[in-house]
Amino acid sequence: MSEKVPTSDGSGSRADDHRIVISGGASLDGTVRVGGAKNSALKLMAATLLAEGTYRLANVPRITDVTLMSDLLRATGCRVAWDDRADESTLVVDVPAVIEPVAPYEIVEQFRASIVVLGPMLARCGEARVALPGGDDFGPRPIDMHVRGLAELGAEFETRHGYIHASAPNLLGATVLLEFPSVGATENLLMAAVRAKGETTIDNAAREPEIADLCELLSKMGANIEGSGSSALVIQGTEELHHADHRVIPDRIEAATYLTALGITGGEITVEGARHDHMFMLCQKLGEMGMRISPDSSGIWAFAGRRLSSSDCSTLPYPGLATDFKPFLVALLATADGVGIVTENIFSGRFHYVDELRRMGADIRTDSHHAVVRGVERLSGAPVKAHDIRAGAALVIAGLGAEGETVVAEAHHVARGYHDLAGKLTALGADVRLD
Ligand code: UD1
Repeated sequence: MSEKVPTSDGSGSRADDHRIVISGGASLDGTVRVGGAKNSALKLMAATLLAEGTYRLANVPRITDVTLMSDLLRATGCRVAWDDRADESTLVVDVPAVIEPVAPYEIVEQFRASIVVLGPMLARCGEARVALPGGDDFGPRPIDMHVRGLAELGAEFETRHGYIHASAPNLLGATVLLEFPSVGATENLLMAAVRAKGETTIDNAAREPEIADLCELLSKMGANIEGSGSSALVIQGTEELHHADHRVIPDRIEAATYLTALGITGGEITVEGARHDHMFMLCQKLGEMGMRISPDSSGIWAFAGRRLSSSDCSTLPYPGLATDFKPFLVALLATADGVGIVTENIFSGRFHYVDELRRMGADIRTDSHHAVVRGVERLSGAPVKAHDIRAGAALVIAGLGAEGETVVAEAHHVARGYHDLAGKLTALGADVRLD
C-alpha cells in the first residue's frame, strides 16, 4: 500500500479553475469501462467504522467524493490509502481499536453523503458528533427520517453549535417504518441496527442496488440481515462484527451517462462492466425513444441510429427512473423529436441546469417539479456552468450533440463523481478536453 489518497486540501482539491471543453458533432463508437459506484463506495467506506481491522475495497472510483470520505475516516483515526499494486483501483482502510466519533464541519459541508457516518459511529461508540449537512444546489436535504429512525433504536439527539450530538450507550432493536424509502436513512439505520441488541425491522426501506451492496459487505463482516434488496429489512444485531474485503458494484449513473450521450450523438458502444439489471427502467425508456439496448457478456451494448423520439419521464425510488438520470434525460429530450414532460418526484428544485441548457438553445419550460421539453433539431455550443455533479455531466452530454464549442465551467463538480469523464468520452471518438 503506497499511494496515499490525496487530502481534500491537497492535490485532490477542487480544481475550481478547470473547465470541460466539448466540440460537438462526433458520433460515439467503441467500448468504455464503467467504474465502481460512487453512491456505494462512500457508504461502504462509512461501514468500515463498525469494526476494527483492515478492509480492502476494490473497484473504488478515484473521484473527489472518495477523497473527502477518506479525509472523514482519517479524522476519526483511520488510515486510508490506495493500493497501487492491486489490479484495479483498491482502497485500503485501516480502522483502529478506538475511533473518534466526530465528523467535522469542514469535511461534511463539502459532501452530503457524509451523514451516513452517523449510524456506524453511534453503533460502534455509543455516541457521535456530526456537523449538520447544509443544503446543496438542488434544495434542502433534511435528515429528520435518519434521526427519527435512530431515536426508535434508543438514540438521543441534541443540536449544538451546528453539530448533531447523538448518544445511545445501548442501541435496542425496534421496528422502524420509513415514511419515504430514503436511501440515506435506510443506510444509517442499517448500519446502526447491525450492532443493536435484538431484532430491527426497517419497513419501506429503499431498494437501490447500492443498499444491497452495503448489505453484502455488512454480511461479510458478520451481520445478520434478511431481505437485502427488498423494502423490508430484518436485522439481528450482533457485537461480533469484523473487518472484510469487498468489490464495489458498477456505477449505474456513470453507465447512464454514456448511454444517454450515445442517444444524442448516435453510434454504437459497449459499456463494459455495466449491470443491465440495475438500470432496467432507463434502458426501457431509451428503447422507447428509439435506441437499441441489450445486456451482453461484458456489460451493456447500445446503438442509436437516428434522431430519438420524445417520451415523458418521471423519477421514482428504485426500481423507478433514478433522480440522478433526470438531467441526462432532459439533455437528451432537448434534441429529440416532439415534446417530453419530465417530472421530478424525489427532490424539489433539481432544475437549475435547465437555464444553462436554454443558453444552448434548448426549449424547456419548468413549473414546480415538471419540465416541458420541446426538442429542437440541434443545440448550439455555449459557455455554461455546472451546478452539481449530474447537472455538469448533462451539460457535457448536451455539448456532444451541439453545433460548435461548449465550455462547461466549474467542472470540479463533475470530478466529484466521475473519474476521467473527458478521457473516456474521447476514447469513444468525442472531442472533449479539460482546460
Ligand atoms: C438520493 C436518491 C438516490 C441518489 C442520491 C444521490 C432517491 C430515493 N434517492 O439519495 O437514489 O443516488 O440522492 O443523488 O432517489 N428526505 C426527508 N428526510 C430525510 C431524508 C430524506 O425528507 O430524513 C427526503 C429528501 O428530501 C428527498 C427524499 O426524501 O425528497 C429522498 O431522499 P434520500 O433518498 O434520503 O436522498 P439520498 O440518500 O441523498
